[in-house]
Amino acid sequence: MKVVRLMAWAAVVLVGAFLLGQRFMTGNEAKSGPGGPFTLTAHTGERMSDTDFRGKFMLVYFGYSFCPDVCPLELQKLTIALETLDKEGYDTSSLQPIFITVDPERDTVDEMAAYVPQFYPRLIGLTGTPEEIADVAREYRVYFRKREQEDADGYLMDHQSFIFVMNPDGSFNRLFSGRDKPEDIVAPFRKVLPKRDGQ
Ligand code: NI
Repeated sequence: MKVVRLMAWAAVVLVGAFLLGQRFMTGNEAKSGPGGPFTLTAHTGERMSDTDFRGKFMLVYFGYSFCPDVCPLELQKLTIALETLDKEGYDTSSLQPIFITVDPERDTVDEMAAYVPQFYPRLIGLTGTPEEIADVAREYRVYFRKREQEDADGYLMDHQSFIFVMNPDGSFNRLFSGRDKPEDIVAPFRKVLPKRDGQ
């Protein structure tokens, strides 16, 4: 009786260990942070994929051009950070700022083409079909939702506001939130970016 119980417990432990091991293996195979593959339409009309930016740090921000407050401030912050690095003589060609709309209904290619040049010259605006946008937001774990307004002819989009830094191999590096200042974005890149020739 005792031996049988012992064997039963041993079996439970073995099966448990096996299942746990499987879970860990699945965990290792799964990606460890936000991000993932996408193919979207740039403000130039060109189709662009995440793989087009391999070898560069992608600085990815999700928002929408009709955003009255947060998006312009965050894109401005990103612009100030990049301009600061430029002024300090760093070669920022390996930094690729990207603005992905969560409002593809209004953010057409033309709309994005009018919007993104207001910020950093190399900022790329990406839009797509509602499904493509939903997919990329899911990859980056960015929540967004349309908020209808009865009193206004427009609508707002609720959305999370993060600047994702993706490594040159496409993996997740870190994110910046609304609390971070331009200097918080600048500081880590001073350590990794080369200086331009003659600086
Ligand atoms: Ni916004």
